[in-house]
Amino acid sequence: MNTMRSLFPFFLHNPDLVYLDNAATSQKPNVVIDELTRFYQFDNAPVHRSFYTLAEHTTEKYEAVRIAASVYFGATSKDEIVFTAGATAGLNMLAFGLVLQLIRPGDEIAISLLEHHSAMLPFVEVARRVGAVIRYLPITPLGQVDEAKLSDCITEKTRCVVCTAGSNVVGVENNFLSVLHRAKVVGAVFVLDAAQMAPRRRFNLAELGVDCFVCSVHKMCGPTGLGVLYVAKKWHERCHPWMVGGSMVQQVHCDAWGALPMPTMWEAGTPPIAEVIAFGKALSFLQSIGIDHVMAHEAALSRQFIEGVADQRHISVVGNLDMLAKQGHLASFTVDGWHAHDVAAYLATELIAVRSGYHCAQPLHDALGISQTVRASWYLYTSAEDIARLIDALARLGDG
Ligand SMILES: Cc1ncc(COP(=O)(O)O)c(C=O)c1O
Repeated sequence: MNTMRSLFPFFLHNPDLVYLDNAATSQKPNVVIDELTRFYQFDNAPVHRSFYTLAEHTTEKYEAVRIAASVYFGATSKDEIVFTAGATAGLNMLAFGLVLQLIRPGDEIAISLLEHHSAMLPFVEVARRVGAVIRYLPITPLGQVDEAKLSDCITEKTRCVVCTAGSNVVGVENNFLSVLHRAKVVGAVFVLDAAQMAPRRRFNLAELGVDCFVCSVHKMCGPTGLGVLYVAKKWHERCHPWMVGGSMVQQVHCDAWGALPMPTMWEAGTPPIAEVIAFGKALSFLQSIGIDHVMAHEAALSRQFIEGVADQRHISVVGNLDMLAKQGHLASFTVDGWHAHDVAAYLATELIAVRSGYHCAQPLHDALGISQTVRASWYLYTSAEDIARLIDALARLGDG
Protein backbone atom coordinates (compact mmCIF):
# COMPACT_ATOMS: atom_id res chain seq x y z
CA MET A 1 0.00 0.00 0.00
CA ASN A 2 1.38 3.47 -0.82
CA THR A 3 2.17 5.84 2.04
CA MET A 4 -0.80 8.12 1.44
CA ARG A 5 -3.24 5.20 1.34
CA SER A 6 -1.89 3.83 4.60
CA LEU A 7 -3.28 6.95 6.33
CA PHE A 8 -6.81 5.88 5.31
CA PRO A 9 -8.03 2.71 7.08
CA PHE A 10 -10.73 2.19 4.44
CA PHE A 11 -8.06 0.84 2.10
CA LEU A 12 -6.76 -1.55 4.72
CA HIS A 13 -10.25 -3.04 4.99
CA ASN A 14 -11.01 -2.93 1.23
CA PRO A 15 -7.61 -3.86 -0.22
CA ASP A 16 -8.93 -5.03 -3.60
CA LEU A 17 -11.47 -2.27 -4.25
CA VAL A 18 -10.65 0.49 -6.73
CA TYR A 19 -12.59 3.39 -5.23
CA LEU A 20 -13.35 5.92 -7.96
CA ASP A 21 -16.41 7.63 -6.51
CA ASN A 22 -14.57 10.45 -4.80
CA ALA A 23 -16.68 13.19 -6.36
CA ALA A 24 -19.56 11.71 -4.34
CA THR A 25 -17.66 11.32 -1.08
CA SER A 26 -14.04 10.96 -0.02
CA GLN A 27 -12.52 8.45 2.34
CA LYS A 28 -11.45 9.66 5.79
CA PRO A 29 -7.93 9.62 7.22
CA ASN A 30 -7.14 8.10 10.62
CA VAL A 31 -6.69 11.55 12.17
CA VAL A 32 -10.34 12.39 11.44
CA ILE A 33 -11.74 9.01 12.53
CA ASP A 34 -9.61 9.06 15.70
CA GLU A 35 -10.82 12.54 16.56
CA LEU A 36 -14.47 11.46 16.26
CA THR A 37 -13.82 8.54 18.63
CA ARG A 38 -11.75 10.66 20.99
CA PHE A 39 -14.47 13.31 21.13
CA TYR A 40 -17.17 10.82 22.15
CA GLN A 41 -14.86 9.15 24.68
CA PHE A 42 -13.59 12.29 26.39
CA ASP A 43 -15.27 15.55 25.37
CA ASN A 44 -18.91 14.85 24.53
CA ALA A 45 -20.92 17.82 25.82
CA PRO A 46 -23.26 20.40 24.29
CA VAL A 47 -22.00 23.69 22.90
CA HIS A 48 -23.13 27.28 23.51
CA ARG A 49 -25.55 26.43 26.31
CA SER A 50 -23.98 25.16 29.51
CA PHE A 51 -21.47 26.71 31.89
CA TYR A 52 -19.69 23.66 33.31
CA THR A 53 -16.05 23.32 32.38
CA LEU A 54 -16.41 20.48 29.89
CA ALA A 55 -19.19 22.23 27.95
CA GLU A 56 -17.13 25.41 27.83
CA HIS A 57 -14.09 23.47 26.67
CA THR A 58 -16.16 21.79 23.91
CA THR A 59 -17.63 25.13 22.86
CA GLU A 60 -14.09 26.53 22.58
CA LYS A 61 -13.01 23.62 20.38
CA TYR A 62 -16.10 23.97 18.18
CA GLU A 63 -15.54 27.72 17.77
CA ALA A 64 -11.82 27.17 17.13
CA VAL A 65 -12.79 25.17 14.03
CA ARG A 66 -15.00 28.04 12.88
CA ILE A 67 -11.93 30.28 13.13
CA ALA A 68 -9.77 27.71 11.31
CA ALA A 69 -12.39 27.44 8.54
CA SER A 70 -12.64 31.23 8.24
CA VAL A 71 -8.87 31.43 7.77
CA TYR A 72 -8.80 28.45 5.38
CA PHE A 73 -11.49 29.90 3.13
CA GLY A 74 -10.28 33.51 3.37
CA ALA A 75 -13.23 35.01 5.25
CA THR A 76 -12.72 38.31 7.04
CA SER A 77 -14.46 37.12 10.19
CA LYS A 78 -15.40 33.82 11.82
CA ASP A 79 -18.99 35.09 11.90
CA GLU A 80 -19.12 34.61 8.13
CA ILE A 81 -18.88 30.82 8.57
CA VAL A 82 -22.03 28.76 9.22
CA PHE A 83 -21.85 25.01 9.82
CA THR A 84 -24.54 23.21 7.84
CA ALA A 85 -25.56 19.63 7.10
CA GLY A 86 -23.81 19.80 3.69
CA ALA A 87 -23.71 21.76 0.45
CA THR A 88 -27.37 20.98 -0.27
CA ALA A 89 -28.40 22.30 3.13
CA GLY A 90 -26.26 25.44 2.65
CA LEU A 91 -27.80 26.15 -0.74
CA ASN A 92 -31.32 25.74 0.65
CA MET A 93 -30.46 28.05 3.54
CA LEU A 94 -29.27 30.68 1.09
CA ALA A 95 -32.34 30.31 -1.10
CA PHE A 96 -34.92 30.43 1.69
CA GLY A 97 -33.02 32.49 4.28
CA LEU A 98 -31.53 35.16 2.00
CA VAL A 99 -32.63 35.14 -1.65
CA LEU A 100 -36.32 34.86 -0.71
CA GLN A 101 -35.94 38.24 1.04
CA LEU A 102 -34.25 39.84 -1.99
CA ILE A 103 -36.67 38.98 -4.79
CA ARG A 104 -40.01 40.36 -5.88
CA PRO A 105 -42.36 39.14 -8.63
CA GLY A 106 -40.72 39.64 -12.03
CA ASP A 107 -37.16 39.75 -10.65
CA GLU A 108 -34.66 37.28 -12.06
CA ILE A 109 -32.33 34.61 -10.70
CA ALA A 110 -29.55 33.44 -13.04
CA ILE A 111 -28.33 29.86 -12.70
CA SER A 112 -25.61 28.25 -14.80
CA LEU A 113 -26.55 25.11 -16.70
CA LEU A 114 -23.54 23.40 -15.15
CA GLU A 115 -25.21 23.26 -11.77
CA HIS A 116 -25.92 20.24 -9.62
CA HIS A 117 -29.63 19.86 -8.81
CA SER A 118 -28.83 21.02 -5.27
CA ALA A 119 -27.66 24.38 -6.59
CA MET A 120 -30.58 24.70 -8.98
CA LEU A 121 -33.75 23.49 -7.30
CA PRO A 122 -33.74 25.60 -4.10
CA PHE A 123 -33.57 28.75 -6.24
CA VAL A 124 -36.10 27.44 -8.77
CA GLU A 125 -38.49 26.77 -5.89
CA VAL A 126 -37.95 30.20 -4.33
CA ALA A 127 -38.58 31.85 -7.71
CA ARG A 128 -41.76 29.79 -8.16
CA ARG A 129 -43.10 30.88 -4.79
CA VAL A 130 -42.46 34.57 -5.43
CA GLY A 131 -43.26 34.74 -9.14
CA ALA A 132 -39.66 35.50 -10.10
CA VAL A 133 -38.03 34.32 -13.34
CA ILE A 134 -35.17 31.82 -13.72
CA ARG A 135 -32.62 32.60 -16.45
CA TYR A 136 -30.24 29.75 -17.23
CA LEU A 137 -26.71 30.73 -18.21
CA PRO A 138 -25.86 28.81 -21.39
CA ILE A 139 -22.67 26.77 -21.59
CA THR A 140 -20.17 26.05 -24.34
CA PRO A 141 -19.92 22.55 -25.87
CA LEU A 142 -16.77 22.03 -23.79
CA GLY A 143 -18.66 22.63 -20.56
CA GLN A 144 -17.81 26.16 -19.42
CA VAL A 145 -20.24 29.04 -18.87
CA ASP A 146 -20.62 30.87 -22.19
CA GLU A 147 -19.12 34.27 -21.39
CA ALA A 148 -20.55 35.82 -24.57
CA LYS A 149 -24.08 35.37 -23.16
CA LEU A 150 -23.45 36.77 -19.68
CA SER A 151 -24.71 40.30 -20.25
CA ASP A 152 -27.88 39.00 -21.93
CA CYS A 153 -28.68 36.70 -19.03
CA ILE A 154 -27.52 38.74 -16.04
CA THR A 155 -29.33 42.07 -16.20
CA GLU A 156 -30.54 44.90 -13.99
CA LYS A 157 -33.43 42.61 -13.03
CA THR A 158 -31.10 39.89 -11.68
CA ARG A 159 -31.05 39.64 -7.89
CA CYS A 160 -29.07 36.42 -7.51
CA VAL A 161 -26.53 34.49 -9.60
CA VAL A 162 -25.71 30.85 -8.82
CA CYS A 163 -22.59 29.31 -10.31
CA THR A 164 -20.36 26.33 -9.68
CA ALA A 165 -16.62 26.60 -9.12
CA GLY A 166 -16.33 23.28 -10.96
CA SER A 167 -18.96 20.86 -12.18
CA ASN A 168 -19.31 17.33 -10.84
CA VAL A 169 -19.67 16.07 -14.43
CA VAL A 170 -17.17 18.14 -16.42
CA GLY A 171 -14.46 17.91 -13.77
CA VAL A 172 -12.47 21.08 -14.36
CA GLU A 173 -12.50 24.59 -12.93
CA ASN A 174 -15.37 26.67 -14.21
CA ASN A 175 -14.83 30.25 -15.41
CA PHE A 176 -16.84 31.49 -12.45
CA LEU A 177 -14.80 34.68 -12.05
CA SER A 178 -16.33 36.15 -15.22
CA VAL A 179 -19.78 35.30 -13.88
CA LEU A 180 -18.91 36.85 -10.52
CA HIS A 181 -17.76 40.07 -12.20
CA ARG A 182 -21.00 40.34 -14.16
CA ALA A 183 -23.05 39.70 -10.99
CA LYS A 184 -21.14 42.54 -9.30
CA VAL A 185 -21.92 44.93 -12.16
CA VAL A 186 -25.66 44.48 -11.61
CA GLY A 187 -25.43 44.22 -7.79
CA ALA A 188 -26.78 40.65 -7.60
CA VAL A 189 -25.80 38.35 -4.75
CA PHE A 190 -23.30 35.78 -6.08
CA VAL A 191 -23.54 32.20 -4.79
CA LEU A 192 -20.55 29.93 -5.47
CA ASP A 193 -21.03 26.16 -5.23
CA ALA A 194 -17.60 24.77 -4.41
CA ALA A 195 -18.71 21.26 -3.41
CA GLN A 196 -16.36 19.79 -6.03
CA MET A 197 -13.55 22.31 -5.91
CA ALA A 198 -13.07 22.94 -2.17
CA PRO A 199 -11.41 19.50 -1.72
CA ARG A 200 -8.72 20.44 -4.26
CA ARG A 201 -8.42 24.24 -4.48
CA ARG A 202 -7.89 27.08 -2.02
CA PHE A 203 -10.31 30.02 -2.18
CA ASN A 204 -9.67 33.45 -0.76
CA LEU A 205 -13.33 34.38 -0.62
CA ALA A 206 -13.06 37.94 0.68
CA GLU A 207 -10.34 38.79 -1.81
CA LEU A 208 -12.35 37.29 -4.68
CA GLY A 209 -15.43 39.23 -3.58
CA VAL A 210 -17.63 36.11 -3.43
CA ASP A 211 -20.86 36.84 -1.52
CA CYS A 212 -21.87 33.31 -0.55
CA PHE A 213 -20.10 29.96 -0.83
CA VAL A 214 -20.92 26.36 0.03
CA CYS A 215 -18.95 23.16 0.26
CA SER A 216 -19.38 19.63 1.63
CA VAL A 217 -16.97 18.55 4.33
CA HIS A 218 -17.46 14.83 3.55
CA LYS A 219 -15.90 15.34 0.10
CA MET A 220 -12.72 16.79 1.64
CA CYS A 221 -11.64 14.06 4.07
CA GLY A 222 -14.06 15.18 6.79
CA PRO A 223 -17.06 13.50 8.39
CA THR A 224 -20.45 13.08 6.72
CA GLY A 225 -23.39 15.29 7.69
CA LEU A 226 -21.41 18.52 7.63
CA GLY A 227 -20.92 21.41 5.25
CA VAL A 228 -19.54 24.93 5.35
CA LEU A 229 -21.54 27.95 4.28
CA TYR A 230 -19.87 31.34 3.93
CA VAL A 231 -22.03 34.46 3.90
CA ALA A 232 -20.12 37.74 3.53
CA LYS A 233 -20.88 40.18 6.34
CA LYS A 234 -22.49 42.73 4.05
CA TRP A 235 -25.41 40.32 3.47
CA HIS A 236 -26.02 39.44 7.13
CA GLU A 237 -28.60 42.20 7.56
CA ARG A 238 -30.69 40.65 4.80
CA CYS A 239 -30.56 37.11 6.22
CA HIS A 240 -33.70 35.83 7.91
CA PRO A 241 -34.20 32.75 10.06
CA TRP A 242 -34.96 29.76 7.85
CA MET A 243 -35.25 27.19 10.65
CA VAL A 244 -36.33 28.26 14.10
CA GLY A 245 -35.98 26.74 17.55
CA GLY A 246 -33.41 26.49 20.32
CA SER A 247 -29.97 28.09 20.23
CA MET A 248 -30.73 30.69 17.56
CA VAL A 249 -32.96 32.93 19.68
CA GLN A 250 -32.26 35.82 22.00
CA GLN A 251 -35.49 35.94 23.97
CA VAL A 252 -38.69 34.00 23.62
CA HIS A 253 -42.09 34.99 24.98
CA CYS A 254 -45.35 33.30 24.16
CA ASP A 255 -46.21 35.97 21.63
CA ALA A 256 -42.79 37.14 20.36
CA TRP A 257 -39.20 36.07 19.85
CA GLY A 258 -36.00 37.57 18.50
CA ALA A 259 -33.26 35.85 16.55
CA LEU A 260 -29.56 36.07 17.39
CA PRO A 261 -27.27 37.49 14.68
CA MET A 262 -25.47 35.39 12.07
CA PRO A 263 -24.02 32.79 12.13
CA THR A 264 -25.94 31.65 15.24
CA MET A 265 -29.25 32.55 13.59
CA TRP A 266 -28.67 29.81 11.02
CA GLU A 267 -27.43 27.14 13.45
CA ALA A 268 -30.67 26.22 15.22
CA GLY A 269 -30.68 23.20 17.52
CA THR A 270 -27.74 21.07 18.61
CA PRO A 271 -25.18 21.18 15.82
CA PRO A 272 -22.99 18.30 14.58
CA ILE A 273 -20.40 18.95 17.30
CA ALA A 274 -18.19 15.88 16.85
CA GLU A 275 -18.19 16.34 13.07
CA VAL A 276 -17.17 20.01 13.32
CA ILE A 277 -14.33 19.22 15.72
CA ALA A 278 -13.13 16.35 13.50
CA PHE A 279 -13.36 18.67 10.48
CA GLY A 280 -10.65 20.74 12.16
CA LYS A 281 -8.39 17.66 11.78
CA ALA A 282 -9.39 17.25 8.12
CA LEU A 283 -8.39 20.86 7.44
CA SER A 284 -5.00 20.43 9.12
CA PHE A 285 -4.55 17.14 7.26
CA LEU A 286 -5.20 18.77 3.87
CA GLN A 287 -2.86 21.62 4.77
CA SER A 288 -0.13 19.19 5.77
CA ILE A 289 -0.45 17.42 2.39
CA GLY A 290 -0.60 20.73 0.50
CA ILE A 291 -3.37 21.49 -1.97
CA ASP A 292 -0.84 21.95 -4.79
CA HIS A 293 0.23 18.39 -4.25
CA VAL A 294 -3.40 17.20 -4.44
CA MET A 295 -3.94 19.09 -7.70
CA ALA A 296 -0.74 17.81 -9.30
CA HIS A 297 -1.48 14.22 -8.26
CA GLU A 298 -5.04 14.36 -9.65
CA ALA A 299 -3.88 15.98 -12.90
CA ALA A 300 -1.35 13.16 -13.44
CA LEU A 301 -4.14 10.59 -12.96
CA SER A 302 -6.38 12.51 -15.39
CA ARG A 303 -3.62 12.49 -18.01
CA GLN A 304 -3.09 8.78 -17.47
CA PHE A 305 -6.80 8.10 -17.97
CA ILE A 306 -7.18 10.29 -21.05
CA GLU A 307 -4.09 8.84 -22.69
CA GLY A 308 -5.14 5.32 -21.65
CA VAL A 309 -8.55 5.51 -23.35
CA ALA A 310 -7.41 7.64 -26.31
CA ASP A 311 -7.30 4.61 -28.62
CA GLN A 312 -10.45 3.01 -27.16
CA ARG A 313 -12.87 4.14 -29.85
CA HIS A 314 -15.91 2.98 -27.88
CA ILE A 315 -15.21 5.52 -25.08
CA SER A 316 -16.19 9.21 -25.38
CA VAL A 317 -15.03 11.46 -22.56
CA VAL A 318 -17.15 14.53 -21.77
CA GLY A 319 -15.73 18.06 -21.73
CA ASN A 320 -12.43 19.73 -22.47
CA LEU A 321 -9.79 17.00 -22.60
CA ASP A 322 -6.85 19.43 -22.64
CA MET A 323 -8.11 21.10 -19.48
CA LEU A 324 -8.89 17.75 -17.89
CA ALA A 325 -5.36 16.55 -18.55
CA LYS A 326 -3.98 19.69 -16.89
CA GLN A 327 -6.23 19.96 -13.84
CA GLY A 328 -9.08 17.42 -13.82
CA HIS A 329 -10.20 15.30 -10.92
CA LEU A 330 -12.70 13.07 -12.72
CA ALA A 331 -13.79 11.81 -16.10
CA SER A 332 -17.38 11.35 -17.23
CA PHE A 333 -17.80 9.21 -20.31
CA THR A 334 -20.15 7.17 -22.42
CA VAL A 335 -19.45 3.73 -23.85
CA ASP A 336 -20.80 2.91 -27.31
CA GLY A 337 -23.53 0.30 -27.17
CA TRP A 338 -23.68 0.28 -23.38
CA HIS A 339 -26.03 1.98 -20.93
CA ALA A 340 -24.12 3.84 -18.21
CA HIS A 341 -25.66 1.70 -15.45
CA ASP A 342 -24.60 -1.49 -17.23
CA VAL A 343 -21.03 -0.19 -17.46
CA ALA A 344 -21.07 0.61 -13.74
CA ALA A 345 -22.50 -2.83 -12.94
CA TYR A 346 -19.80 -4.48 -15.08
CA LEU A 347 -17.08 -2.41 -13.39
CA ALA A 348 -18.49 -3.41 -10.00
CA THR A 349 -17.83 -7.05 -10.92
CA GLU A 350 -14.21 -5.98 -11.52
CA LEU A 351 -14.24 -4.37 -8.02
CA ILE A 352 -14.13 -0.88 -9.50
CA ALA A 353 -16.52 1.58 -7.85
CA VAL A 354 -17.79 4.34 -10.15
CA ARG A 355 -20.99 6.40 -10.45
CA SER A 356 -23.44 6.21 -13.34
CA GLY A 357 -26.49 8.25 -14.33
CA TYR A 358 -27.06 12.00 -14.49
CA HIS A 359 -25.04 12.69 -11.32
CA CYS A 360 -27.77 15.10 -10.14
CA ALA A 361 -27.07 17.28 -13.19
CA GLN A 362 -29.70 16.32 -15.74
CA PRO A 363 -30.07 19.79 -17.33
CA LEU A 364 -26.29 19.77 -17.88
CA HIS A 365 -26.48 16.42 -19.69
CA ASP A 366 -29.36 17.82 -21.77
CA ALA A 367 -27.38 20.97 -22.60
CA LEU A 368 -24.39 18.88 -23.71
CA GLY A 369 -26.71 16.68 -25.77
CA ILE A 370 -25.65 13.48 -24.04
CA SER A 371 -27.49 10.75 -22.19
CA GLN A 372 -26.46 9.30 -18.86
CA THR A 373 -22.74 8.97 -18.23
CA VAL A 374 -20.31 6.91 -16.22
CA ARG A 375 -18.17 8.98 -13.86
CA ALA A 376 -14.84 7.90 -12.40
CA SER A 377 -13.40 10.37 -9.91
CA TRP A 378 -10.09 10.37 -8.10
CA TYR A 379 -8.51 11.99 -5.07
CA LEU A 380 -5.24 12.33 -3.26
CA TYR A 381 -4.94 8.61 -2.40
CA THR A 382 -5.94 7.20 -5.80
CA SER A 383 -3.04 5.31 -7.39
CA ALA A 384 -1.81 4.90 -10.95
CA GLU A 385 -2.64 1.17 -10.53
CA ASP A 386 -6.28 2.09 -9.83
CA ILE A 387 -6.48 4.06 -13.08
CA ALA A 388 -4.69 1.27 -14.98
CA ARG A 389 -7.28 -1.24 -13.72
CA LEU A 390 -10.08 1.04 -14.94
CA ILE A 391 -8.46 1.50 -18.35
CA ASP A 392 -7.95 -2.26 -18.73
CA ALA A 393 -11.51 -3.05 -17.71
CA LEU A 394 -12.90 -0.49 -20.19
CA ALA A 395 -10.70 -1.89 -22.97
CA ARG A 396 -12.34 -5.28 -22.46
CA LEU A 397 -15.75 -3.68 -23.14
CA GLY A 398 -14.56 -2.81 -26.63
CA ASP A 399 -13.27 -6.32 -27.40
CA GLY A 400 -16.67 -7.74 -28.23
C1 LIG B 1 -21.31 20.42 -7.49
C2 LIG B 1 -22.10 19.87 -6.33
N1 LIG B 1 -22.93 20.67 -5.67
C3 LIG B 1 -23.65 20.24 -4.62
C4 LIG B 1 -23.58 18.94 -4.19
C5 LIG B 1 -24.38 18.49 -3.03
O1 LIG B 1 -23.55 18.10 -1.97
P1 LIG B 1 -24.12 17.28 -0.72
O2 LIG B 1 -24.74 16.05 -1.28
O3 LIG B 1 -22.92 17.02 0.12
O4 LIG B 1 -25.11 18.15 -0.05
C6 LIG B 1 -22.72 18.05 -4.87
C7 LIG B 1 -22.66 16.63 -4.46
O5 LIG B 1 -22.23 15.78 -5.19
C8 LIG B 1 -21.97 18.53 -5.96
O6 LIG B 1 -21.13 17.74 -6.64
